[in-house]
Amino acid sequence: MINVLFVCLGNICRSPMAEAVFKHLVEKENLSNHVQVDSAATSSWHIGDPPHRGTVAKLNEYNISSNGLTGRQLQKDDFENFDYIIGMDENNVGDIRQMFGQPDHPKIIRFLNLTNHQKDVPDPYYTGDFQETYDLVSEGCQALLEKIKMEQVELSS
Ligand code: 4NP
Repeated sequence: MINVLFVCLGNICRSPMAEAVFKHLVEKENLSNHVQVDSAATSSWHIGDPPHRGTVAKLNEYNISSNGLTGRQLQKDDFENFDYIIGMDENNVGDIRQMFGQPDHPKIIRFLNLTNHQKDVPDPYYTGDFQETYDLVSEGCQALLEKIKMEQVELSS
């Protein structure tokens, strides 16, 4: 099993959106038996909370399920339990590295570094623009799946 974890500040806007979009993609490609997806926050602010209504509305618009998405905080053993730990922005990546004491491990990745954008995923909690975030998350998810397919022998058939 390949384990993917998306991380943002609150775990109510960007990372649950990425979790839902990536799960949807994995299901579409019949890879659910091989790839597991989760998300977490660097903060403790929204533990147990459902995603932001803007994230839920955007997922609904694309017929992507937001069932079961619940805020949780990143924890130390996530480092061992996940193969890809994807931060939405540079601050998230810094916090993840610090929590794990892993300054340069290649499994910790800034999401859009996998695309041509090389920038942070804008936080719709502040921008209010869930469409912009959705478009970038969607592009990032495609790129991540391509990377995983190239790197993981269990998916090559
Ligand atoms: P997220 O956005 O990191 O994409 O989930 C935020 C959610 C909540 C807060 C900040 C950012 N907050 O300040 O509660």
